[in-house]
Amino acid sequence: MKVLKTVEAVRAFRRSLSGSLGLVPTMGAMHEGHLSLVRLARERCDAVLVSIYVNPTQFNSTADYQTYPRALEDDLAMLTSLDVAAVFQPTDRIIYPDGMVTTVKVAALGAHWEGAYRPGHFDGVATVVARLLNITTPDLACFGEKDYQQLLVVRRLVRDLNMAVEIIGGPTIRETDGLALSSRNALLTATERSRAPHLNQALDNAARLIGRGRPAPQVLEDEMAALTDRGFEVDYLALVDGATLETISDPKPGARLLVAAHLGSVRLIDNRAL
Ligand code: PAJ
Repeated sequence: MKVLKTVEAVRAFRRSLSGSLGLVPTMGAMHEGHLSLVRLARERCDAVLVSIYVNPTQFNSTADYQTYPRALEDDLAMLTSLDVAAVFQPTDRIIYPDGMVTTVKVAALGAHWEGAYRPGHFDGVATVVARLLNITTPDLACFGEKDYQQLLVVRRLVRDLNMAVEIIGGPTIRETDGLALSSRNALLTATERSRAPHLNQALDNAARLIGRGRPAPQVLEDEMAALTDRGFEVDYLALVDGATLETISDPKPGARLLVAAHLGSVRLIDNRAL
């Protein structure tokens, strides 16, 4: 496995390939969620490139950026065993050589939910993903449904900018107790970790009750109250149109439940189809 650190090295690697290339962009601290995307890319492409870059422009707080888990040695060991052709591990100077003059903003989609609670977050995501796609020019790129809004933002950015890449969404990988895998889970205390599965349970309960015909606004209010009782500080629990992310009050095909909540100092997000 090659470890590429410059744009020139990535371009030379790209030119050396005769077959198709799949990109899996990550911020590292790999877990099975990341690895599932690597396997997905490997099934579909002749070669896989994984980028590892903790992107400062998508963090809202310096503390979150500074405490974000980093585990480069372990990451490289895991990727080697998965038949990854190369890792792109740029520095800030490589990704943002002249600071941030040009940014990519996916207006409507990026303004809801995570965008509202984390102002500028999706501008940072869209900008870095556009740069990574332009540097690596893959045939396809894989993103997790775990970050459902991010997946939609990336699909829209690629469509609006006519980028010649296919975006593939991979299912959310969970712990056996239902907690969605996330690099930030490592920051939970033991007590918080034992409570964290309630987030996914709230989604499952809401889906079941709304599926049985209970009014969605009431169900969501009850589930938010239950999460609050269990020590979560809930930012939102919402039923949305799965394409536009607009709030809906009645279930419909493609509807999605989205949740974000703080547990101590850690902010967790999750989602599921209705
Ligand atoms: P990161 O949080 O490292 O996630 C990298 C990819 O793994 C994303 O596509 C994310 O949705 C996916 N992923 C995370 N947890 C998952 C899980 N439990 N199951 C399946 N997939 C999961 O998302 C980012 O990095 C960044 O925003 C990035 C796209 C790299 C831009 O900086």
